Order: sequence, then structure tokens, then C-alpha cells
Amino acid sequence: MPKVSIPQKQMTIDVEAGSNLMSALIAAGLPVASSCDGDGICSMCRVRVTSESGSAPGDAINSPASFETDSLKRNKCAPDERLSCQIEVRGDITVKTKYW
Ligand code: FES
Repeated sequence: MPKVSIPQKQMTIDVEAGSNLMSALIAAGLPVASSCDGDGICSMCRVRVTSESGSAPGDAINSPASFETDSLKRNKCAPDERLSCQIEVRGDITVKTKYW
């Protein structure tokens, strides 16, 4: 079962493989900013995935689809930011945001 570490909250949560990151964070009681309810439009749910496990880079989370990349660019997100509502957790990760 993958682990999501949230060092800013001194928390680690276990999630089912394939879980949506935003949903998992909310289920754990953490606030996740959103005005599109996870549709990948607002980019308010942006996070940085600072470390991953797995045999190759990117194994722990899905790669961004062009829809997500377009949304990140349109909303002037940093190159290393991802939309938590578009992340599928496949392995151990560490997540940070500006507002936690
Ligand atoms: S919740 Fe709006 S882009 Fe993720």
C-alpha cells in the first residue's frame, strides 16, 4: 500500500494503489484548495511531489496528461508543480503545498 508523506503536517497516510491524491488528502482531513471540484481546470490544488519510490522516475505517480499540462501553464504554475486532482498514487511519495 503506497504511503503519502506530508512533512508540513508531520503526517504519513496509507492509500490504496491507484488512489486519486486530492481525494486521499481530503479523506485524511487536509484542506485542498479547489474551485473546480477536481476537474483539472482551476489549478488551485497544485502540489509538489518532492520524492518518489519506484524503480524508475515517475513510477510512483502517473505522468501528466496534456490536459493537466495545459491547465498548469494557463494558470502560471511552476514547472515542478502538479495538480493533485490529476495524480494517481502508485507508490510512496512526499507532497508539499504553499498553504499547509
Ligand atoms: S481542483 Fe481544480 S485543478 Fe485540481
